[in-house]
Amino acid sequence: MKGIVFTEFFELVEQKFGLAVVQQIIDECKLESEGIYTSVGTYSHKEMFVMVNKLSQLKRLPVSKLLQVFGEYFFNTLKAKYPAFMDKPNLFSFLYSIDQYIHPQVLKLYPDAELPKFDAKVNSDNEMILNYYSSRKMSDLAIGLINGAAKHFSEDVDVVKVSEEKSGEIVTIKVNKI
Ligand code: HEM
Repeated sequence: MKGIVFTEFFELVEQKFGLAVVQQIIDECKLESEGIYTSVGTYSHKEMFVMVNKLSQLKRLPVSKLLQVFGEYFFNTLKAKYPAFMDKPNLFSFLYSIDQYIHPQVLKLYPDAELPKFDAKVNSDNEMILNYYSSRKMSDLAIGLINGAAKHFSEDVDVVKVSEEKSGEIVTIKVNKI
């Protein structure tokens, strides 16, 4: 997983809970990287789960909620860094472009990026189904990113998991306009 994900995670933890909590996570997690990340480096995605689990224990918040909040925050980072990808008329066309365009472009820039696959299907004007596939099991991060994107396009949506297989490697996500 690219270092930018980790450095942004620390930014968010610092903003919400303070620098002391960032330090406590680094001290108590026995990370292979020792908590030292550069934005272009590559690190095991397992370190992210170790740290999110630790934060969940420290703050008594569910891991799924923390990943979703982080996803929404991370969307704004991506938007600031890659504004060209936001050039879409609405949320559904943007979500459709993740697998068709955005992530393939990311892979050209960073050949070692580990990206999920998405199958996207628009069921009606108001409903889209996104099937998430990734051995990293980060559909909650995806839900947060989708919520961040909805805010960007000023669209009110409900984003829910409809089903989950292989302990989260395959997840069906439904996006409904409300
Ligand atoms: C709502 C829109 C998006 C969704 C739902 C989404 C979903 C995800 C998810 C869930 C991951 C974690 C890896 C995994 O699950 O296997 C990921 C990684 C990533 N995505 Fe996206 N993404 C979105 C938009 C974008 C955009 C706009 C960019 C801009 C360049 C981007 C760049 C990346 C990068 C750099 C990573 C990290 C790859 C790595 O760590 O190796 N994504 N994405």
